[in-house]
Amino acid sequence: MAKDTWIGDVLAGNYNGEEVELMGWIHRSRGSNKIRFVVLRDSTGYIQCVVKRDAVGDEAFEAMKTALIESSVIICGTVQSTEREHGYEIQASSCEIVGGVNPERPFPITESAMAEADGGETEFLLDNRHLYLRTGRMTTMLKMRSSVFGAIHSYFRDLDFIEYQAPNFVAGAVEGGSTLFEVPYFGRKAYLTQSWQLYGEAAMPALERLYTMAPSFRAEKSRTRRHLTEFWHAEMEMAWASNADIMEHGEGVVRHIARTLLDEREKELVDVGRDLDLVARYADNPYPRMRYDEAVETLQGMGVDVEWGQDLDYSKEKVLTADFDVPHFLTHYPRIAKPFYHRPDPEDPKYVLCHDLLAPEGYGEIIGGGERTWSEKEILERIDEDGTPRDAYEFYIDIRRYGGVPHGGFGLGVDRVVTWLTGANHIRETIPFPRDSRRVTP
Ligand code: 4AD
Ligand code: MG
Repeated sequence: MAKDTWIGDVLAGNYNGEEVELMGWIHRSRGSNKIRFVVLRDSTGYIQCVVKRDAVGDEAFEAMKTALIESSVIICGTVQSTEREHGYEIQASSCEIVGGVNPERPFPITESAMAEADGGETEFLLDNRHLYLRTGRMTTMLKMRSSVFGAIHSYFRDLDFIEYQAPNFVAGAVEGGSTLFEVPYFGRKAYLTQSWQLYGEAAMPALERLYTMAPSFRAEKSRTRRHLTEFWHAEMEMAWASNADIMEHGEGVVRHIARTLLDEREKELVDVGRDLDLVARYADNPYPRMRYDEAVETLQGMGVDVEWGQDLDYSKEKVLTADFDVPHFLTHYPRIAKPFYHRPDPEDPKYVLCHDLLAPEGYGEIIGGGERTWSEKEILERIDEDGTPRDAYEFYIDIRRYGGVPHGGFGLGVDRVVTWLTGANHIRETIPFPRDSRRVTP
């Protein structure tokens, strides 16, 4: 029973006056003992179907009359244009319930439950995430999310980057031990990877330009608007590249994502209340570069309590980016604020050649990247100064023993970019099944 007519195409006017067969779910149903107005939903839209007892027969009419919300149905009928909201409706000639809903367990996500959540997500909606996915709000978000994934792939593939995969079970940290997830591994300890980077670097001499999109894991205890324990990470690595070269791609991919959302998902952006001019501004304008020191001075000037040498946490980025008109790169963080793989600046080794890209409107960091420490001597120094045992990094050090070259890359938090560009309040609104320190179900 292949489906060949989509509600979205009917609403676009492609079938006016024609007989169609629609497959979907009952979104709403009201009416009398003679006529029902059934709003049918599929993945592409909502349409009203007028179901009359005279037209469909007693048996089918009774079934439709008692069918509850979210019953799946097939409705055949003629497409008619109307003055009403959607522009078209269906005059049903036959209907059939495919999968019903038990009246003892009606669909729990009612309009009042949604109203109570008030655009956010209550524990109740999170507990019923598997059902919440089919609401208009979540469906819209999932479509925008898909376009963001597509845009990242097309950006890198159009530039001849090779997609490359790394293991998720690993032996050591990339981004510091405090957010490592430990997993028992046949009598030993393994960890869930925090980043593809170190394995990306291993393939750098093979592929020279490579990227991935994969989950990364961080044991973040604190629950914030922008942290997940499992998030989607778009990472790239490039041979023969400086910090400035890498930033160009960070800017390039983010602007391409914004442009793709406008091209593919204008309706969805409007549906979630996003200002299209803002998204266009992020697509069309260059992103300024600012040194860490300048950011710290700016913050201190604003009366924020921040000391030179600290990495900037969310509370600080929020203040700093509130008035940004477009994303800004912060470069040259203090060496002591960043992990061992960042390359010290030869002009002043107190700093590293790195960057974070901070999104405006208070959203903060969406990208972290930079040049890598690429000589054997320097990487050994950096690992030792970090106090990290060398064992887990033997392979990483070895890469530098055979024709090391300057190189770099970045990681972009895909869920964070979706949150920012769609104007969502919380990162978990953008991912089907959010994972945080309190939740691994459903
Ligand atoms: O800044 P991070 O920790 O950098 C790295 O992992 C590098 N190894 C990447 C690289 O150079 N290949 O993480 C990169 C990005 C952050 O800017 C942020 O957008 C996202 O990953 N991110 C998270 N997103 C959601 N939840 C979390 N807990 C995240 N932690 C990082
Ligand atoms: Mg970072």
